Amino acid sequence: MQSARLPRYGDRLEVRIERLDDKGLGLGVVGAGSDGECQVRVRGGLPGARYGVSVVARRRRLVDAKVLEVLEASPDAAPSRCPHFGSNGGPCGGCTFQHLAYDAQLAAKRQRVTAALAPLLGTGVTVEPVIGMAHPWHYRNKLDFTFGARRYRAEGEDPERDATFALGLHVPGMWSKVLDVERCAIAFEGADTVLGTVRRLARAASLLPWDTRQHTGLLRHVVLRRGVRTGETMLVLVTSERAAELVDPLVQGILAAHPELTTIVQDVNARHATIAIGQEQFVLHGPGTIDEVLLGRRFTLSPHSFFQTNTLQAERLFELVREEARLAPAGVVFDLYCGAGTIGLCLADLAGEVVGFESVGAAVADARANAARNGLAGATFVEGDVLESLAAFTAEGAHSRPDVVVLDPPRAGLHRKVVPTVLTLGALRIVYVSCNPESAARDLAALTEGGYVVERVCPVDLFPHTPHIETVIALRRGDDAQQREQLQRTELTGPEA
Ligand SMILES: C[S@@+](CC[C@H](N)C(=O)[O-])C[C@H]1O[C@@H](n2cnc3c(N)ncnc32)[C@H](O)[C@@H]1O
Repeated sequence: MQSARLPRYGDRLEVRIERLDDKGLGLGVVGAGSDGECQVRVRGGLPGARYGVSVVARRRRLVDAKVLEVLEASPDAAPSRCPHFGSNGGPCGGCTFQHLAYDAQLAAKRQRVTAALAPLLGTGVTVEPVIGMAHPWHYRNKLDFTFGARRYRAEGEDPERDATFALGLHVPGMWSKVLDVERCAIAFEGADTVLGTVRRLARAASLLPWDTRQHTGLLRHVVLRRGVRTGETMLVLVTSERAAELVDPLVQGILAAHPELTTIVQDVNARHATIAIGQEQFVLHGPGTIDEVLLGRRFTLSPHSFFQTNTLQAERLFELVREEARLAPAGVVFDLYCGAGTIGLCLADLAGEVVGFESVGAAVADARANAARNGLAGATFVEGDVLESLAAFTAEGAHSRPDVVVLDPPRAGLHRKVVPTVLTLGALRIVYVSCNPESAARDLAALTEGGYVVERVCPVDLFPHTPHIETVIALRRGDDAQQREQLQRTELTGPEA
């Protein structure tokens, strides 16, 4: 039934999903009589499927709706593997479309990158097919699980069952509710067994989970991190206080059940904000770090330094960066937003000099240690916000200008004031590693405006079953920019002999 007016809360509609949006939600359109058309956004909606839905919210000509029934299945529907994943995406929030065939996921991601970047590409440049995984399961090497004092109750669950303790993931749209995650199809193998042990022992010892409303309780998060290539595994227990008399016996119990854990760190976070990064750390077992191997280099990771969460696909990504940097042997690389130095260090054997820029002090310390242990003496790391540290570093004048700049910013993309500094560097090539096509589009518009030309766009799927997509974008300095620079030099120094 189609509406003769704009839909309202509680209306029942029939809608065919045409595509997925950047958050992985299904999008369709319904006619609204003389009011024209209205877009319908459906959580769990798959392209090609037709649903009976009920409207749950409306903003102008966009309504959010939930699935009541599947009227026609999507030709790309696939069985999901996870017990927590329902036909409407499920309460977990970790995956968005396990119920969409993997090839169709890759096609949808390519379409998203194309929609964002196509206007910025020159003639003959198209978005290449997404490099996917041969086995897109159990790929995450890092998981951040939350303790909660309000467990999400499954539909039809016995109302008498205790719901005052949970360890798992926040339910989307219900910030205080936590789903007890029993199995996870994207976590590294064995992660859910460790999680089950922590839950069982914490409950047996009557330890209290953090209550996000009252700001009480001890246990806040469990972060699990695996070196896929080394087998080393870290467990970080985030608590609201040190409470050694309660935490140490718990840790001993976890270790007795899981001798495969090579290190356990307690992180104390007494603040109210729900983040898995505390103010004070205590290494309770092992070295406090794990090692991972990427493209033959060994990296040491501390609890909070950034590292790509899909080791196998990160290698595909970095191979592309190596290819597109096209470094000459004495070439200089600036690796902006370098984390623990992974990209720069994967380029170091091709370059004369690598300089990394990163704001997180622990990641910079890891990057320096990683350079030393891989015998890469030609790598320097500068700690600080790129906005100030890059300008300060280049203003000193004692440093070579880069031939290649690698940009791997967080989801928000480059700070708008970073772009002019990057342009002043005048690198011959820029390799932009994007985790968000929409912010990359804004940054590429500024870089192309500044004289760069996009040569290649190649997406790599590091996050199967979620809407996230990484993209390697190769740019070269356009002839105009080179000519402009040559002219400036000539004006300053006179014509070259
Ligand atoms: C997407 S990660 C890339 C890390 C690294 N290139 C890698 O592949 O492992 C982005 C990194 O940028 C850092 N970062 C975020 N904002 C920053 C800023 N304003 N200045 C410097 N580094 C920043 C983060 O700490 C994080 O390590």
